[in-house]
Amino acid sequence: MDWGFKNRLNKVLPGISSGKGSVMFAIDHGYFMGPTSGLENPVQNIVPLLPFADSLMLSRGILNYSIPNDISTPIVLRVSSGNSILNEDMSNEKLCVSLEEAVRMNVSAVAFSIYVGAEHEHQTLTEFSKLVNEAHSLGIPVLAVTAVGKDMARDLRYLSLASRIAAELGADIVKTYHCEDFDKLVDSCPVPVIIAGGKKISELDALKLAEKAIKDGANGVDMGRNIFQAQDPMKMIKAVRSVVVDGNSSMESYSKFLED
Ligand code: 5RP
Repeated sequence: MDWGFKNRLNKVLPGISSGKGSVMFAIDHGYFMGPTSGLENPVQNIVPLLPFADSLMLSRGILNYSIPNDISTPIVLRVSSGNSILNEDMSNEKLCVSLEEAVRMNVSAVAFSIYVGAEHEHQTLTEFSKLVNEAHSLGIPVLAVTAVGKDMARDLRYLSLASRIAAELGADIVKTYHCEDFDKLVDSCPVPVIIAGGKKISELDALKLAEKAIKDGANGVDMGRNIFQAQDPMKMIKAVRSVVVDGNSSMESYSKFLED
């Protein structure tokens, strides 16, 4: 891989070179969920949090129209879409943003969801592989967002299957969910692994989740709802950073969250 590729990857996950964890902040939920609590006004609610995020994951519409173009936060652009929460089967996604546009938007990485074990598994895996061809030819790292079929448990067996497949197909970063024996998933996945936060849980539980993931070998978090839907998103992103980047315990970081 060339210098540009490595430079972009280091920007997105600076913890790779510093040996620490990284905080990717995910706000792409509206691409299939529509209006999402906490994301109504990105300039007001999201932009002030950016100094505490290593990178920002979002869709092109929100980047174009809701994020000022003078920010320095590296961008991870979601390039797959094509479904909504109204569908029983959520796996019918394709590549919907051109790499030419991604380059014009000066993104540091692109993100694509693969659905292993779901109705459209083949479509998402082949589209993903083609995306890797094109993105790598431009020196752009690819983040695989791993989703598993709706009847499949989010457990080690299925999540490690999806993660390893993503890496085999050329993913540079894999995003998955934390699960029991997560260290085994990390061991079987040759590229950096980051975890999604999932649905909103208590602030302390979200910090404990981040702590466990880092202890199990994750390279960071790609957290959304547990930050932007927190009681105090600014305090929460600082607390997540305290756990993931500074290596403080979840309890210590939570106590500070309550004090500040
Ligand atoms: C949606 C996504 C989200 O970015 C991902 O799930 C992270 O957000 P959260 O922490 O809210 O789960 O990829 O498809």
